[in-house]
Amino acid sequence: MAPNFKVYTFEEVSKHNDKNDCWIIVHGKVYDITSFLDDHPGGVEPLLMATEKDASNDFEDIGHSDSAIEDMQNYYVGDIDTNTITAKVENSASPTIQGVVSSTSNESSGSVLKILQYLLPLLILGFAYAMQYYGKSSKQSES
Ligand code: HEM
Repeated sequence: MAPNFKVYTFEEVSKHNDKNDCWIIVHGKVYDITSFLDDHPGGVEPLLMATEKDASNDFEDIGHSDSAIEDMQNYYVGDIDTNTITAKVENSASPTIQGVVSSTSNESSGSVLKILQYLLPLLILGFAYAMQYYGKSSKQSES
């Protein structure tokens, strides 16, 4: 009989997040790696950290060998409904977005400061001339 692979929601997969029951998501596929945890050359910890999120980037960042990628297929249990992936993925994206937003607002306040840096001496100079002119004309009207 053909194996019964399923499409899981992110919520379902996220429930399997400890040493006794550990599932990960890599490139849209779901792997039950519970039995592999103790044999993983990279240790248990990185695998547990890779639960409850899309671990594709974590997996790629290590530069796993072809044999590691082949080995993964032994733990494949189904696919993930990608529309349901939220939580940690969004959380991990938001600091970047916040970073961009805050850095652009920093940039814009920086450029305002630069303009002020040039404008302020000009304003002071203009004010000094205006005072001089006003002083002269008021002296003329006195005499
Ligand atoms: C079913 C999934 C996985 C399999 C079969 C697997 C297999 C392997 C294998 C065979 C190695 C030895 C090096 C190599 O041949 O590439 C390795 C190393 C490693 N793996 Fe995984 N891995 C899996 C998932 C992950 C995930 C999700 C992470 C999360 C970050 C991870 C982190 C690491 C680390 C940190 C090393 C050590 C790299 C080093 O010492 O240079 N692995 N893995």
